[in-house]
Amino acid sequence: GLGEKDSLQKKSLKFQDSYTFLHIFMIYLLCSEDWGGFVLPYGSRNPKKECRWDMDIREDNGEGIDSWKEVTLIYNAALKQIETRMEILNEEFQHVHQYNPIEHIKARIKTPESIVKKLKRNGYESTIDNMVKHVNDIAGIRVICSFTSDIYRIADMISEQRDLQVLTVKDYITFPKTSGYKSYHMIITVPVYLSDRTVDAKVEIQIRTVAMDFWASLEHKIHYKLEGDAPEHIRSELVECAKMVTDLDARMLKLNEELLILSREREKE
Ligand code: GTP
Ligand code: MG
Repeated sequence: GLGEKDSLQKKSLKFQDSYTFLHIFMIYLLCSEDWGGFVLPYGSRNPKKECRWDMDIREDNGEGIDSWKEVTLIYNAALKQIETRMEILNEEFQHVHQYNPIEHIKARIKTPESIVKKLKRNGYESTIDNMVKHVNDIAGIRVICSFTSDIYRIADMISEQRDLQVLTVKDYITFPKTSGYKSYHMIITVPVYLSDRTVDAKVEIQIRTVAMDFWASLEHKIHYKLEGDAPEHIRSELVECAKMVTDLDARMLKLNEELLILSREREKE
């Protein structure tokens, strides 16, 4: 009734007054450890909101994602879909070519601490809108292959899925980083179908071989433990190891190709 409307308007004024406070409170929540299941103050699961103040402070991220709960829900759904699609590709590949291009898959949702850190590093405030717009790796999936050739096969298969949109590709295999880092990165979007709307969620896909992954894990650990300040001999040793990874991958690929040719010939006999 009318009374309700009145109190809403009052709420709206109060909210604007305490906007700065709320902002700080929100950042505090984002930084605190225990935030499982907490909905940020201006969030609502109902997109057809009646509270006017909701509209006032919300920049539109174009996706209508407006609470942390929704962020986790949507990005978890996106991750599940991509993981399942990878498994299907792997099974179908096994059926057609008698081998699995994918060794294993790792999937993760970026921790809130690390999202906030990244936003800060890039000069953005910690808001849901900024997360959705500027953090491309909230949902991340790592696809570990046996052979370098599999990486491009999988990347092509991803690109060909009609409802997936490829936003960016970084080929650190053809162009490795100076650190020696090799991997194939794609940022894609996948449609997540909710009860009343569809949201395109970004997923970072990293595709690399077992050997590249082994190298990247150790390099990451060294970088992390020594806070990016590794002694020169360790850095050059890592670059040397990266060369050995490239060499190993090339030789293993060649061996596998020879094996395929030989086994086909023997089958004919
Ligand atoms: P961020 O590094 O996440 O800010 O992303 P970016 O925009 O620089 O994208 P990029 O594709 O270069 O890197 C994305 C991810 O790849 C990183 O978050 C790391 O997980 C991984 N990565 C990139 N470079 C290296 C590296 O030199 N060593 C290791 N171990 N991992 C790396
Ligand atoms: Mg990252």
